[in-house]
Amino acid sequence: MNETPTYPHFSPGKLFVGPGSSADLAREIPGSFVYLVVTDRGLSQAGMAARLTRILEQAGKRFHVFDAVAADPPIEVVTSALETARQNGCNAVVAIGGGSSLDAAKAVAVGMKHDVSLREYGDGRLVKGPIAPLYAIPTTAGTGSEATRVAVITDAAKKEKMAIRGDHLTPLASALDPDMLVGIPARIAAETGIDALTHAVEAFVSRNANTITDVLALGAIEKIGLHLCRFARDTTDKAAALEMLVASCLAGQAFTNAGLGLVHSIGEVLGSRYHTSHGLSCALYLPATMAFNQPAAPERFARIARALGEDVKDLAPEEAGRRAVVAVEHLFEALRLPRTYNAVGIDFKLTSKMVDDVLPQFSTQCNPRKADADEVAALFNAPMG
Ligand SMILES: [Fe+2]
Repeated sequence: MNETPTYPHFSPGKLFVGPGSSADLAREIPGSFVYLVVTDRGLSQAGMAARLTRILEQAGKRFHVFDAVAADPPIEVVTSALETARQNGCNAVVAIGGGSSLDAAKAVAVGMKHDVSLREYGDGRLVKGPIAPLYAIPTTAGTGSEATRVAVITDAAKKEKMAIRGDHLTPLASALDPDMLVGIPARIAAETGIDALTHAVEAFVSRNANTITDVLALGAIEKIGLHLCRFARDTTDKAAALEMLVASCLAGQAFTNAGLGLVHSIGEVLGSRYHTSHGLSCALYLPATMAFNQPAAPERFARIARALGEDVKDLAPEEAGRRAVVAVEHLFEALRLPRTYNAVGIDFKLTSKMVDDVLPQFSTQCNPRKADADEVAALFNAPMG
């Protein structure tokens, strides 16, 4: 009898890695398409998008720029980008930006090929079959969207974030180019880095973790422990930026296969209500959720502690596991991340609907320790200070 379970493993598309690799990607994409370059106005005004479009021009690629992506992109932004694509005959997408631009671009590439209302995907329908050709250049090291099969956009009318999912949602190729991160604000470097750390931690302790996602997640945690502070201190440090880009991509691969946990399901509900940045939402709940989960998987948390540089070899598993929480708290102190609703500027009020919204989520089901409504409420209230 075969007792070893089988599982599918999903790998990302081609990666161009290193300083200047976005130019390699721009030169390599096929010349037969007309590209919609999807980005946000900030990057457009800072000239980052122009660096890419100059290379596209030199390489003889046809394109049109859509630079109106907003944070937590609403459905309307995707609709507007699709209209721009239609008017200009675009049939492929290049995303340049943070998670919002990459996720909006994924939704645009879905809309180019599938005549289905995006809201239907939010209700759980999977994207079946290929989307328009999609290429990505991340300008933050956090979401790992270049490696995942999900795009998160916002249904502003419902005050809800919705996830569009499907095996075809990963870019065909992406560039992990540290030149694209140079000089980003330290706060963005810290918050997005904590998003990547949360992906790796939640994937590593997920009920769906496997031997491949374990290696990816632990590798990401180790890199983040070594390089996040260095990068946040000096965002012109290209070596640190590259390490963080690789860590974010590894963590994305880990969680797109293993799933996430309660930090993400609670954080998404908070973000939908209070418009907190996604990285900050993760920061608010990660330590308390790790402490809650630690008794369910002490050996796993001990390995996280070790990956973050803690010396745990003479400790019992429970004590070693608790060191993972201590290590993350030290990291947060070093990054000067806010830890309370007050510090983030939120007048927080918990409702039973918010708890109800967390319980059925897929991320909640992947969490290593089952949480009832009272325990979810306690985690929501942890940052009350
Ligand atoms: Fe995340």
